[in-house]
Amino acid sequence: MSISKNLNSNNMSLTYKILAKNLLKGELKAGNEIAVRVHQTLTQDSTGTMAYLQLNAMDVDKVATEISVAYVDHNMLQSSFENADDHEFIKTSAEKHNIVFSKPGNGICHRLHLERFGKPGKILIGSDSHTPTGGGLGMLAIGAGGLDVAIGMARGLYYLKVPKVYNIELRGKLQPWVSAKDVILYVLKQLTVKGGVGYVMEYTGDGIKSLSVEDRATITNMGAELGATTSIFPSDEYTKIFLEKQSRGDDFIELLPDENAFYDDKLVVNLDELVPLAAFPHSPDNVHKIPKDKKLKVDQIAIGSCTNSSYSDFMKLAAILDGKKVHPDVSLVLSPGSSNIMKMISENGALAKFIAAGARLLEAACGPCIGMGQAPKTDGISLRTFNRNFKGRCGTMSAGVYLVSTETAAASAITGYLTDPRELGAEIIVEEPEKFEISDNYFIFPNPNEEEAKREREAVKIVMGPNIKPFPIGEELKDSITRKVILKTGDNITTDDICPSNAALLPFRSNIPKLSEHCFETIIPDFKERAEKNNGGIVVGGENYGQGSSREHAALLPLYLGIKAVIAKSFARIHKANLINSGIIPLEFENVEDYDKIDEYDELQLSDILNSLVNGRFIIKNITKNTEFPAKFNGSERELKILKFGGYLKFATSDEFLS
Ligand code: F3S
Repeated sequence: MSISKNLNSNNMSLTYKILAKNLLKGELKAGNEIAVRVHQTLTQDSTGTMAYLQLNAMDVDKVATEISVAYVDHNMLQSSFENADDHEFIKTSAEKHNIVFSKPGNGICHRLHLERFGKPGKILIGSDSHTPTGGGLGMLAIGAGGLDVAIGMARGLYYLKVPKVYNIELRGKLQPWVSAKDVILYVLKQLTVKGGVGYVMEYTGDGIKSLSVEDRATITNMGAELGATTSIFPSDEYTKIFLEKQSRGDDFIELLPDENAFYDDKLVVNLDELVPLAAFPHSPDNVHKIPKDKKLKVDQIAIGSCTNSSYSDFMKLAAILDGKKVHPDVSLVLSPGSSNIMKMISENGALAKFIAAGARLLEAACGPCIGMGQAPKTDGISLRTFNRNFKGRCGTMSAGVYLVSTETAAASAITGYLTDPRELGAEIIVEEPEKFEISDNYFIFPNPNEEEAKREREAVKIVMGPNIKPFPIGEELKDSITRKVILKTGDNITTDDICPSNAALLPFRSNIPKLSEHCFETIIPDFKERAEKNNGGIVVGGENYGQGSSREHAALLPLYLGIKAVIAKSFARIHKANLINSGIIPLEFENVEDYDKIDEYDELQLSDILNSLVNGRFIIKNITKNTEFPAKFNGSERELKILKFGGYLKFATSDEFLS
């Protein structure tokens, strides 16, 4: 292991400092694959069932990390047995492997992790794409596929491509009614949903002094929408204040980039000039100023999610709603980020103000963000303080979701239309308490006595209800594959498009056969039938294929249905890794115009596969059209081995990996 010659001890970004300190294998040079030490992991229930099936299959006694936490926050409805079975499976799997279990009702994984476990300088990987929320605390917090997290838990390491570092310099100070959400919406407008691909977004500048850790976490959370590997803020005196308020002052260390740190790219944001913004349907980068001339009538407003569900979000809301009424045409729904926040707002009177104003209180969980209830009406307009507004994610295909700050949402709740909060007049100041509420009542911690803990782990029986089905395993690589293109998609296909995420389907995240019936159903209704008729197949995609959530189901469903390869113009980082981990070959067009020359049901032949993977270049035969085109395999030596073995799980349990 080594560090690139371009870097020396006095020009390092914070990102590279953390990577260098925890480097286990490889050279720290942009584009190289390295292995780093993993200190912490998190899972949520929706991706967690699969991660624990995989961890259990690896037959380890206890996790190799400093701390691993299993949260339950996504699939909360218990209108049938499936979700409850999944929760029990996760709980018993956690108990079996020395993992902290966060019970349903405790709150949203990223908020809770920030409050209770995040530490500056540590590396966290999480089976959720918004794991970068932890970057608000100065940690390198990366979203990964469930299998990467399972291997992180079992072996304490994580492989990643060394990212480039994008410096976002924040200058000046936010003006009244303009918030951290507007900062990240502005960055999304400038850089788009592809702008962060291959980068860590590192925030610097005097402007960060006006941002609390919670504000910073809102920004790093939504950095996921830029496609970035993660986002990070320095750990400074504000980080110290936050940790002290959480009674974790001892976890503080100061972490700053070097003064003349090297960055690959740079964007300057003048906070003084920012105004309230909104991401219009159906993409987080479709960002506009709030229109003054045209009043957009609103049906629903939802405040919460891992982006904007902090104590100060709810206290700002309480101050704005105090003595006012929610507009009669608006349904205002609130989901606080954690049980601790819920307790604080119920004790300090804020909750009473919400109820007096006519708001609806949901539990501390993801809720409407993942389509778990509160789907808007047909053609409804919903303002949300969340991070994603892809078509149909809210549960209603025809609804229009606008992403806004808490201030904008609160102002609009009163007026009934999308409202610039500056119309509210004088700014409100929210005082934070000396100490935040800390309660462990919803956590189940492993026994700190190692001997007793070992006995307890041995006694645990993992409970697998009927909804939990084995996950598919890829086949060892063959040297030639001939299959039809059973689907050709456009650009920016999301993992939601591949594996729909709605309340009706979420309970089947541990049941791949059942879920596979819905694979790609938002694009074509008969993908499964096409796959069955054609003995699997190949998918052809456009730019940024697989953007959005980290869910590996978007690779496991195609694997289950026999998809052998995806050929796209470009891939989203996590999804590409998930395809490889599953044993599906991801290839990129060498010439993007070749995309136009392929039609659905063309028969393609990939031959000499092993050599082509080693060389990084395929010549693919289009048998139907009697033509050829080149495609690239852009993967590491380790990824090549994963494909050869037929998936990461097979490789990670092989002698070759363990030696
Ligand atoms: Fe949950 Fe939505 Fe965040 S589903 S983890 S609140 S993106």
